Amino acid sequence: MNKFSNVYVVNHPLCCHNLSIIRNKDTNAEVFRNAIRRITYLLFYKATEDLELEDIIVETPLEACKSKILSKKKEIIIAPILRAGLIFSDIANEIMPYATVRHIGMYRDEDTLTPVWYYNKIPVEFEHPEDKIILILDPMLATGNSAIDAIKLFANKKVPHNNIRFVSLISAPEGLSKVQSAYPDVKIITASIDDCLNEHGYIRPGLGDAGDRIFNTVEN
Ligand code: URA
Repeated sequence: MNKFSNVYVVNHPLCCHNLSIIRNKDTNAEVFRNAIRRITYLLFYKATEDLELEDIIVETPLEACKSKILSKKKEIIIAPILRAGLIFSDIANEIMPYATVRHIGMYRDEDTLTPVWYYNKIPVEFEHPEDKIILILDPMLATGNSAIDAIKLFANKKVPHNNIRFVSLISAPEGLSKVQSAYPDVKIITASIDDCLNEHGYIRPGLGDAGDRIFNTVEN
């Protein structure tokens, strides 16, 4: 339980263990990436638990049996926010190979802490927006500004808000409040709600700059 109505914290023991690895400043990029990948499976277990199913009949080597597959009516869209969101998208694509991947390119202006767009692979219009399930991926939900912009991108194309999920590794309470007041029906799945943001918009205690640690671009 947490104070946010639509935020799910996956505090599985394996998440907690791997979070300790990635928070450690001495963890190198390879170990960091692998620990995030292990957490990704657990986050997606939660983020996809209510996907719609349909009935089918399958012929096993012994006999026909009733079975279930994901609804063919629904299109699952994986939307990683570049660049850190890429760490989630490989695993997401591995467990949902039929999903569409639509990258969102934005970076944070370090002075204003607002997102700057440079790319998005989203069509101008969606046919049947009600049948799209969107999984927006960004390891760090800090100020909430990029999350809101990314959600808006799909909400403006008439995707129902409760079809949109935001998957993060670590979230700040300030960002969660902001996203939840703008989009209360968007479900947020995270492995941790940390203490607060610092004056530079970094999550405390957090893990530093996720993109730099994933891609080994930390400048000392
Ligand atoms: N982005 C990061 O990578 N880390 C933070 O703490 C906040 C935003």
